[in-house]
Amino acid sequence: MEPRIQALLGAMTLDEKIGQLGLAMSGEGEVPDGLGEAVVQGRIGSVLNEVHVETVNELQRLAVEESRLGIPLLNGRDVVHGFETIFPIPLGLAATWNPDLVETSARTAAVEAAAAGVNWSYAPMLDLGRDPRWGRIAETFGEDPFLIGALGAATVRGFQSEDPGPSPGQALAAPDAIAACAKHFAGYGASEGGRDYNTTNVPEHELRNVHLPPFKAALDAGATSLMASFSDLNGVPATANRWLLTTILRDEWGSDALTVSDWNSVPELCTHGLAADHSEAAYEAATAGLDLEMASTTYADHLRALVESGRIAEERIDAAVANVLRVKLRLGLFENPYTDPGAFPAPANPDHLGAARTAATQSAVLLKNDGPTLPLAADRLSRLAVIGPLADDGYEQLGTWVFDGNPEHSRTPLGTLRARFGETMEIRYVRALETTRSRGRGGFGDAIEAAKQADVVLLFLGEESILSGEAHCRADISLPGAQEALVEAVAAVGKPVVVVVMAGRPLTLEPVLSAVDALLFAWHPGTMAGPALVDLLFGDVSPSGKLPVTFPRRVGQIPIYYGHKNTGRPPTPETVTHIDNIEPRAVQTSLGNTSFYLDAGATPLFRFGFGLSYAAFEYANIEVSPHEVAPGDTLTVRAEVTNVGDCEAEEVVQLYVRDLVGSVTRPVRELKGFQRLGLQPGERTTVVFQLHTDDLAFYDRQMQCVTEPGTFHVWIGGDSATELRAAFEVVERS
Ligand code: BGC
Repeated sequence: MEPRIQALLGAMTLDEKIGQLGLAMSGEGEVPDGLGEAVVQGRIGSVLNEVHVETVNELQRLAVEESRLGIPLLNGRDVVHGFETIFPIPLGLAATWNPDLVETSARTAAVEAAAAGVNWSYAPMLDLGRDPRWGRIAETFGEDPFLIGALGAATVRGFQSEDPGPSPGQALAAPDAIAACAKHFAGYGASEGGRDYNTTNVPEHELRNVHLPPFKAALDAGATSLMASFSDLNGVPATANRWLLTTILRDEWGSDALTVSDWNSVPELCTHGLAADHSEAAYEAATAGLDLEMASTTYADHLRALVESGRIAEERIDAAVANVLRVKLRLGLFENPYTDPGAFPAPANPDHLGAARTAATQSAVLLKNDGPTLPLAADRLSRLAVIGPLADDGYEQLGTWVFDGNPEHSRTPLGTLRARFGETMEIRYVRALETTRSRGRGGFGDAIEAAKQADVVLLFLGEESILSGEAHCRADISLPGAQEALVEAVAAVGKPVVVVVMAGRPLTLEPVLSAVDALLFAWHPGTMAGPALVDLLFGDVSPSGKLPVTFPRRVGQIPIYYGHKNTGRPPTPETVTHIDNIEPRAVQTSLGNTSFYLDAGATPLFRFGFGLSYAAFEYANIEVSPHEVAPGDTLTVRAEVTNVGDCEAEEVVQLYVRDLVGSVTRPVRELKGFQRLGLQPGERTTVVFQLHTDDLAFYDRQMQCVTEPGTFHVWIGGDSATELRAAFEVVERS
């Protein structure tokens, strides 16, 4: 243990130690009754949700100058996709496939949050988003562990800053660094039925091979803390899951990261039925390895008695306190506890808005573009109909978790269109539906009229912010309210129709897609939605977002994700039959006996990694060298990519592998690399990936992480169905 931590622990009473393990709500602008006194007495060592600098500084003053040991406070906040400047929701950020940009988004958020006195962010969220019914899919980086790990690590770097700061060797000590918190450890994304807080049952193989790697990647990037999930994992809620919090985290990974509960999740161990009362709940959580309790007070109320009765060893308390103190030390809070009230960047800082605009631009995914209808030619349009509840709503474009976002800085699509083309085009706006949920069709008449008079119709539809995020799950993930009917009514006019969807999850878009000419899926793009989307619609920039998650045709196909197992009966085009094509009184009991739905087939609506461009890219000449590698070796995979379109564009090149035979069955494809690159029309480049045999490893039947000898396929292309393939062998080292 670090000498400074050792010295502090040596000076602390048991009550002061327990005080470091509590995390209390601040008063949002004033020090609430009792909190100041608790801080002075050393009964509270951390607060959350205080973003008024003067109040944070007053709380720090009480801690540093008036408490016996002068230990500063952590002040946590959910800084999820921006602070004041809102970036696309994490699922949208994931669609950029751009770790540098994600790092910039986290750095920007950290600068703003740190200036408000926040020193700890409850992000990145690293749960797997494989069920679009789950409202929190909006907060995920999608369905793939490799992509989530890469973007999670980028977020950690962005929050915690590369700047060495005042104390050499302590990256976190830069004044605008904030501590990251990788959450929710672990398995939350597997909540049954996509219903929030629900039970999760995840076999150990799948946990180790799919759910845990993103957390390991975040810790390897230096994440200082982890939040335990609310959910029950295989019968033991994560909050009290010793296997997760101690066996994996401490014993296997050797991590000294701070572990924090989720909101009130320690007493909820009673509701789960794991503990009979709050004392038992505190016992279960503390002995499992949970260091810090958020919001509730079972530790404060019961740990002393549990230690005095000998049920919990004081060493366990010391270890938990050491983990809290280590974060405070790494943040440089002992030297520098106060926030400069003048540090907050000017509202609507142009650099921050610029980064948010780039992120929103790169995150939008073009899903359909018949004709092509897009990009629109500004010089050939004179009348534009702009229709829909999300065309001009500065709040709803921001998405979930935007406590500190300022909708007054939002640039909406309508506002941007008017500013840019108001002089040269007649722009007619009809909201048509009050909210995305509205069912009344009273506004349809005006919408149809506007469409009739327009050269092109732009429809801004989707889900308002409240329909995704925590506890906001949906059993039906189609466009809510009367939006499908609105599309139908407007499309019937016969003018070119372009739909822009803003949403917090994949939606079942089949009915809408067939009715429209083009569809751009923008997630919740954030503050700079307007400029980003108008740039894309009018071709200033080519769309380059790629889906970080599979879009199902129907809810009944869920779970559907690209990295599935093959099964013993994989579907083939010959065996997949549609229900309408079955002969009356069909005598056969079998239609080929493969794995698919009679009414939805075997394929998703849009596959993982998919996204159209205004250019087109051709892939050729994949090569692997060497063709044979032994464990410990690296191989190179390369392919040529050519922009065969007629505009400059960026493309996300993806590399997938398949281990054909394993001692444990392996997914049909796994993402193992990606690169975003820009190409001029006609330009060709060779894209090169290095693959180490460790990148091919998985947990075998003995739960050993191994790279097994055998044949591997490798693909390079623009999405998860690419067919440009090569092969290589992993052989035993002779
Ligand atoms: C969420 C966490 C969040 C915490 C604090 C909980 O309800 O599950 O993700 O960090 O609240 O706001």
